[in-house]
Amino acid sequence: MSLLRRVFSGKNMAMPRIVILISGQGSNMRAILSKIRQRKLAAECVLVLSDREATGLALARTFGVKAELFAKHKDESREAFDTRLAARIHKENPALVVCAGYLKIITRPLLTAFPRRILNIHPSLLPAFPGLKAQQQALDYGVKITGCTIHLVDEGVDTGRILAQSPVAVKKGDSVAALSRRILAAEHDLYWRTIAGYLKTLKV
Ligand code: GRF
Repeated sequence: MSLLRRVFSGKNMAMPRIVILISGQGSNMRAILSKIRQRKLAAECVLVLSDREATGLALARTFGVKAELFAKHKDESREAFDTRLAARIHKENPALVVCAGYLKIITRPLLTAFPRRILNIHPSLLPAFPGLKAQQQALDYGVKITGCTIHLVDEGVDTGRILAQSPVAVKKGDSVAALSRRILAAEHDLYWRTIAGYLKTLKV
């Protein structure tokens, strides 16, 4: 694309590039892509990858973003998969890799390829309720406040350095579905702001 066309199409060559990893519906991805489109988040999403057939892939394409299925081969180890994944992501030269409902545990080959450059979102106030079914865990425990956390990814499960959190009150008689909906709304507002802030600290 010529420089003039780039300027008129609003594409800025200097924008930090991000790659988003998903596994599902991609509502966090949609919130991030919307903020990029509204120019509230100064970044360019250059690729969305999903490790499984997911509705989020089609959703990404409606934003004009390249979206690909990137699945683990049968009998492939997690490390071998992450080595291939790191090579695919590397081709896009991103400043940041953003996990948004990505369900695979990330292993060393991917972590070492992008040190301190992989973010994740989790639907609880970590370190409370890591792992799966965080909303159910919060209801079972009986906490009055839960929420969401954005953190750097490290080798543990939801253990990386916390970048931002947002609280969500648990209501009397809450269901997992109702609580999850309110947490998701908080996630949508928190993730893009955290990405924007973190990109500034990376000075890209
Ligand atoms: C979110 O609750 C996120 O915290 C968790 O997975 C869910 C993804 O939702 N990691 P979506 O695919 O972004 O709608």
